[in-house]
Amino acid sequence: MRQAGRYLPEYMERRKTAGSFLDLCFSPEFAVEVTLQPLRRYQMDAAILFSDILLIPQALGQHLEFRQGEGPVLTPVDTADKINMLSMDGLHEHLAPVYETVKRLHHEIPETTALIGFAGAPWTVATYMVGGHGSSDQAVTRQFAYQEEEVFQSLIDLLVKATSEYLIKQIQQGAEVIQLFDTWAGNLPEDEFQKWAVEPVRKIILNIRAQYPKIPIIGFPRGAGSRYPDYIRATGVTAVSIDTTMPLEWVRDNIQTLCPVQGNLDPLLLVAGGEKMENRVREILDCLSEGPFIFNLGHGIVPQTPPENVARVSEIIREYQKK
Ligand code: CP3
Repeated sequence: MRQAGRYLPEYMERRKTAGSFLDLCFSPEFAVEVTLQPLRRYQMDAAILFSDILLIPQALGQHLEFRQGEGPVLTPVDTADKINMLSMDGLHEHLAPVYETVKRLHHEIPETTALIGFAGAPWTVATYMVGGHGSSDQAVTRQFAYQEEEVFQSLIDLLVKATSEYLIKQIQQGAEVIQLFDTWAGNLPEDEFQKWAVEPVRKIILNIRAQYPKIPIIGFPRGAGSRYPDYIRATGVTAVSIDTTMPLEWVRDNIQTLCPVQGNLDPLLLVAGGEKMENRVREILDCLSEGPFIFNLGHGIVPQTPPENVARVSEIIREYQKK
C-alpha cells in the first residue's frame, strides 16, 4: 500500500521544495528521498517506489494535473478519436526518471529490504482516463464500456501493453516485487469483472513472466469479495492484498490456502489509534500469521494519520514475531 505521503512532515517539506506532487515523482533525487522516509522512521520490510498509477496515461499523451483538495484531473478520453490519439511512442522517454529512481533505490536500500515496483491495473487506470477524475461508482466508465465495448477494449489493450513494458523496465532496474493496484475492481458485475479486471491482469502477468518467470506479483483487486479465489487462479498472481472489508477467517480458509496474503488493517483505525487499533492488529496477526502472511493496511495511508500510531503498529508486530 501507499506508505509515504502527506502524514509525514518531512514529505510535506520535500514536496514544497520540489514544487508539486508530479515534480516529486519526476525528480529521481526527491523520489528516492521520499521513498526512504518511512523506512527511516519505522522497521518496514519493504519499500514501495514513490510514483503514481496516473503517470502512464500522462506518458501516453493525456493531460494530467493534481489539484489541491481535488485530486487528479485528466482531460477525458471518451471517444474513439481521442483514444486513437494516445500513443506509446514517447512512453519510455517520459518515464525515464521513474526508471532512474528505481535504479538508485536498488543501490540505496538495505539488501534485507524488498523494493516494490508498481502500476495501476488497466481497469482502474481507465476509470480515471475516461471519467477524467476519481469517482466512487465509476459510472461514466462502466457505461462507456457497455456502449462502446470495442473502443474501450482498444484502450484496455493499449494499457496492457504499456503497463507490461513499464513494469518490465522497473524489474530491469531493480524492482524485486511488483504490485498491481486495481482499486476500483469491486464495482464490476460478474462478466465485466472477468473482462476488465481479470483478463488484462492475466495478460500483463503473462508478458512479465515471459521475461521474468520468478518475479513475485501481488494483485490488489479491491472489493473483489468472494471473487478473490477465482481472481487468484485466473490471473496467476503470486499473492494478493486483501481490502479492509474481507473477513479474516474466510481469508484464512479460502485465500491463504491458495497464496500468501497481505492486509488488511483499516487505515482509519491507524488514525484513531489507541486500544481499538491495537486489538485489531493482534486479531489480524492471530488469525493470519500461521499461514503465508505480510502485515499491511487494507488501503493506502491517509494524510491525517499520526506518525506515532504507525510506529506503535510496527512495534506490536515485531513483539508478536518474537513470541
Ligand atoms: O508509498 C507511496 O506513497 C507509494 C506511491 C503511491 C502513490 N500513489 C503516491 C501518491 C502509490 C502506490 C499510489 C497508487 C495510486 N494512485 C492508486 C492505487 C492505490 C490506492 O491507493 O487506491 C490510485 C487510485 C492513485 C491515483 C491517485 N494519486 C489519487 C486518487 C490521488 C489523490 C488522492 C489523495 O490522497 O489526494 C493521488 C495522489 C497521490 N499519489 C499522493 C501520493 C503520496 C498524494 C499527493 C500529494 O498531494 O502530495
